Amino acid sequence: MSNYHIKHLEEYFQVYRKSVRHPEKFWEEIAEEHFLWRKPWDKVLEWDFTKPEVKWFQGAKLNITENCIDKHLFSHGDDTAIIFEPNNPDEEALHISYYELHKRVCKFANVLKSKGIKKGDRVCIYLPMIPELSVAMLACARIGAIHSIVFAGFSSSALATRILDSDCKMVITSDGSYRGAKTIDLKSIVDAALEKCPGVENVLVAKRIDSDIKLKEGRDEWLQPLLDEAEEDCKPEMMDAEDPLFILYTSGSTGKPKGMMHTCGGYMVYTAYTFKNVFNYRTGDVYWCTADIGWITGHSYIIYGPLANCATTVMFEGVPSYPDFGRFWDIVEKHKVNQFYTAPTAIRALAKENIEYIETHDLSSLKVLGSVGEPINEEAWHWYNDNVGKKNCPIVDTWWQTETGGIMISPLPHSTPTIPTYATLPLPGIQPALMDEEGNELEGYQVQGKLCIKFPWPGMARTVWGDHERYKDTYFSAYKNKYFSGDGALRDNVGYYRITGRADDVVIVSGHNLGTAPIEDAINEHQAVAESAIVGYPHEVKGNALYGYVILKEAGASRKHENVRKEINQLITEHIGPIAKLNKIQFVSGLPKTRSGKIMRRILRKIASNDTDSLGDTSTLLNPEVVEEIIENSLNK
Ligand code: WT7
Repeated sequence: MSNYHIKHLEEYFQVYRKSVRHPEKFWEEIAEEHFLWRKPWDKVLEWDFTKPEVKWFQGAKLNITENCIDKHLFSHGDDTAIIFEPNNPDEEALHISYYELHKRVCKFANVLKSKGIKKGDRVCIYLPMIPELSVAMLACARIGAIHSIVFAGFSSSALATRILDSDCKMVITSDGSYRGAKTIDLKSIVDAALEKCPGVENVLVAKRIDSDIKLKEGRDEWLQPLLDEAEEDCKPEMMDAEDPLFILYTSGSTGKPKGMMHTCGGYMVYTAYTFKNVFNYRTGDVYWCTADIGWITGHSYIIYGPLANCATTVMFEGVPSYPDFGRFWDIVEKHKVNQFYTAPTAIRALAKENIEYIETHDLSSLKVLGSVGEPINEEAWHWYNDNVGKKNCPIVDTWWQTETGGIMISPLPHSTPTIPTYATLPLPGIQPALMDEEGNELEGYQVQGKLCIKFPWPGMARTVWGDHERYKDTYFSAYKNKYFSGDGALRDNVGYYRITGRADDVVIVSGHNLGTAPIEDAINEHQAVAESAIVGYPHEVKGNALYGYVILKEAGASRKHENVRKEINQLITEHIGPIAKLNKIQFVSGLPKTRSGKIMRRILRKIASNDTDSLGDTSTLLNPEVVEEIIENSLNK
């Protein structure tokens, strides 16, 4: 028997050792015992990080929805799969059983087929957190179509870029969405995007809000009447373990977003195994992850991981502040949530509010608390531990990425002693390495370097959609034979890992991974802007906020700075979305550059963080004088 569920620290070490000594055997046992395969694999693993090429369970056939739904019908069909908690607390929550989910997914899958969607076709899903989102993604997986979910907070041009990049034939959206007291007109965002996307043949529109929208003749259709007509059964498409399951875009430090491609077999095994262990999930528990399904956290730990374990997973449509700052705790109490998984930015925002919002709710159902998306600072950790967990719930600080598919480094509840700000130990099967500047692996304890992984794991992305070279350049070129995460980390004297932050030009704002280059591209479109550089700086609630240094063209110098600032943020909102807006914009006459013309972001970061005592050597700069000027006029003093 494989040790699918680890119960104490000794066992963790035992399992970990085995997973490193015999990785193939380790994953093979898990895959064999806990999943439904329609044909076994010919080979557990084939890999070569120099190409890079990674194949898990090659030759095996499966369908992930059979594992997430059908497999549970016989003994757990009436159990709740998804609890949908609407934005408005007065609207009744919806409990979708596994039977019901099966029916809905099959109907939706039949609608997709009736519109000509086949195995391998890309379908873009641009939906708010409503049940149709979960059903749509599973329906794609049912028939082997590749879903590409775009977070519904992205702008029309960000949506268009993603639709074009993966050449989607269909878009699934809604007339609008609720977000706290606001309603958002999603459909017109889709309409604007589609002006640039002639390849999209069909748009299916879910009805969510009370609005009067236009459907484009021959392209758009209401979803519900199609579902009403559809058959209740749909045979799952048999997929190869290495067939694509979905594409999900993540920002890079340069250029356009990268469509990370995940495959069926390995992703399923990895998300299911990590979900079970990291959250210590037991049958009957109610689990809630507050992320949006539009991010990898939602893909892996609202839908695929939990459902593969026959869990009850909560899906919340709204925001933590509506109708008041007690909403999260209200939901925990109402649904008796056992495992709660959220982001440090949400914790910090809630910690600023009156403690009564918490104290008036019964949180005694909670057993495990999770954190993800960015390093959790000590203060937030303690607030979470004291007030939410009442010092009774282990906190799992989970480190991972869109690229890794699932959690990589994390404590296991009741096994791993936790320390604030430490993601602690690698999960079984994960072999981290810390690298120094010269590209050597740092052995032993109390070392700090760039965080790499030296052996494949089943959940890893296999490529960047349409650009394998970029996949290789970004992740497998910095260090020979290793996957480079882009993060820095240290390993302490007992082997615990602490993530120290991004080592590249990606800034994590409120848990959202934002590349600075696309933001700069958006700003530079402003007619008065000559050049710009964006950096992150520490922010009390968001973790990091964005600080822009902008050089104006001659003609722009006379314009009112306040207006230009507004217009810049407007441009960013249009090109990327409001999450990428700049908190501070400083107009400068030049940017510090190396002799080869590269902007020295390190210096700009320090100035933005008001940490100018340790700027380091600036004498090698092309224009050292500009540094003085920038410090002088800094907005963060
Ligand atoms: C980046 C990945 C993984 C789901 C959400 C974000 C940062 C993530 C932690 C953590 C410190 C963390 C890293 C990573 N990050 N979790 N527990 N401690 N940093 O996915 O958008 O792909 O971002 O988020 O910098 O590289 P993502």
